[in-house]
Amino acid sequence: MKGILLAGGTGSRLHPLTLAVNKHLLPVAGTPMIFHPLALLLRAGVRDLLVVTTPRDRPAFEQLLGDGGQWGVTIAYAEQQAPSGVPQALGLARTWSAGQPVVVALGDNIFVGGGVTAVVRAAWQSHPDARIFSYAVADPRSYGVVITTPQGGIVDLVEKPTDPAVGARAVPGLYVYGAQVFAAIDEVCGHPGRQADVTDLNRWFWTRGLLTVTPLAADVGWCDAGTHETLAQAVAMVERAEARTGRMVTCPEEIAWEHGWISDAQVRQRLPNLGSGPYGEYLRRVLAKGRSGAATVS
Ligand code: G1P
Repeated sequence: MKGILLAGGTGSRLHPLTLAVNKHLLPVAGTPMIFHPLALLLRAGVRDLLVVTTPRDRPAFEQLLGDGGQWGVTIAYAEQQAPSGVPQALGLARTWSAGQPVVVALGDNIFVGGGVTAVVRAAWQSHPDARIFSYAVADPRSYGVVITTPQGGIVDLVEKPTDPAVGARAVPGLYVYGAQVFAAIDEVCGHPGRQADVTDLNRWFWTRGLLTVTPLAADVGWCDAGTHETLAQAVAMVERAEARTGRMVTCPEEIAWEHGWISDAQVRQRLPNLGSGPYGEYLRRVLAKGRSGAATVS
């Protein structure tokens, strides 16, 4: 399974925090924001990853994530020269994806619990042409939205509607696409003077009868951490889940170790690089408990 993390953009809604630091490197409950969608993909079993970011920020991501070998996965990088939207960023994955389907996560989207990993895995295994997810929110105006019939058929897809239809649900930044996505990108990005957004891309599939939507249950926690308000909500959501379960929501070493992608010895080798704070302490506890004490990857 191939996964793409989109981590470019200017993060202008978080200025001045993001004037010198890429949004996806800001902290969310003790780990960098990008660890959250990364952890979701790792949990779902994705071992072949591409991070798309800006030329300025690529060295920082390389320093943080490396080539993925420390987690038994492969991480490659691509640079988006200017913030030209999700479809254009995704288009940079054409050669890398080598005709395989891809799961795409926006780097500021944070998911917690509710069996969301199983949902992603199932979405992947159903070999869709294109699949989006939907989530009930109080105010859908900040998101791409989908309106469906009670049977789940899509009636409309709109990016940031000023006057959302009754029953409109937000479309989180998590998508599964088959290889056709690059032909779709060529078409939706081929209109000069207008920057295509991800909803244009999803509409391309929908108007051809190729798009499926999976509703996410209310017990999934979802947050787009792209504004000051939602960043604070994301931190609270993750901290609440961690306090309740005693488990970190995003610890790539733990996830890789649970999958059996890295050994106890490899985790131990990482510890000196992880400092003396709670992250390293948590991993030491995980190792001490041993695999039999670990929860299964879900
Ligand atoms: C983007 C997408 C939007 C989606 C949202 C989810 O918006 O354009 O369709 O619902 O991510 O996080 P942005 O947050 O970049 O404004």
